[in-house]
Amino acid sequence: MYPELIARPRRLRSSASIREMLREVYLRPADLMYPLFIVPGWGIKKPIPSLAGQFHLSPDMAAEAAAEVFALGVKSVLLFGLPEKKDPVGASGADPEGPVQTAIQAIKKAVPEIVVATDVCLCEYTDHGHCGLLNGHYVDNDATLPHLAGQALSHARAGADMVAPSDMMDGRVGAIRSLLDSEGFCRLPIMSYSVKYAGAFYGPFRDAAGSAPQFGDRRSYQMDPARRREARLEVSLDLAEGADIVMVKPAGLYLDIIRDVREHCDAPLAAYQVSGEYAMLMCAVEAGLISERAGALETLSSIKRAGADIIITYLAPKAAQWLREDF
Ligand code: PBG
Repeated sequence: MYPELIARPRRLRSSASIREMLREVYLRPADLMYPLFIVPGWGIKKPIPSLAGQFHLSPDMAAEAAAEVFALGVKSVLLFGLPEKKDPVGASGADPEGPVQTAIQAIKKAVPEIVVATDVCLCEYTDHGHCGLLNGHYVDNDATLPHLAGQALSHARAGADMVAPSDMMDGRVGAIRSLLDSEGFCRLPIMSYSVKYAGAFYGPFRDAAGSAPQFGDRRSYQMDPARRREARLEVSLDLAEGADIVMVKPAGLYLDIIRDVREHCDAPLAAYQVSGEYAMLMCAVEAGLISERAGALETLSSIKRAGADIIITYLAPKAAQWLREDF
């Protein structure tokens, strides 16, 4: 009846087996990195109101959480700290007895094989909540660099496996690399938040980490969401300064950028499914509008399809469990 209809893509969609045979994108638990929020103390596991299903954990409980995700096949965690004290330069971020430094040791003791990455930034540790030192209301780039490097070094000394600067100061990868190298940590990789956009989707995280800026916003250092080509520049600079892994953040709203970066360089690429992306999904799930399992796995495989190798996600434990059940 319709002799001209020769190509019928539906021929290859007719059964679960043929669909499985032809899949191009696979998610594995090892693709996922799980963020943990560390508070000082002992025995603390307190639900975070802005991030349903996530917890404020003391170092001992972080070690338990790390052991649980590792048992599910997730090979890495990313640590954020909530310090006891804040000041204008974020000095507590480099405290050898700070929550992150203590948690690194507790996690490595409990699960030596897990990759412990640490977020390196000042916003959780400064009393003004900006990611760098202030000069009036301006965030001073070059004055911030030694403080970031010092924080990274304290993580290295505590036994971190990877440091991940997220502040968006120019030159911070180079500054961290040279301090680490001069202190004997030339083998420690840097995962740089190379392409980090200033957007509205970090709100739940800032509540969770107590890191919202006390005035203004982060648009003088994070990237303008309406610019695309600048992503390649940021990645080139970070690689030239010694970054080992580059990152795009947020992930789901920036799939075009993930693809651009994937095609621009051969470095391993991470993408951060940020708190606002997670919160949107969880609210829709809560309202009965989207299936949690199907919706979550679809967001993650889209990020992988765009070109990410590693996905940093609050969904890591659940997704790892689902992926194991699927096999
Ligand atoms: C610290 C940092 C932030 C996030 C990761 N590292 C917050 C920010 O830039 O304000 C956001 C992560 C998320 O929203 O899940 N600079």
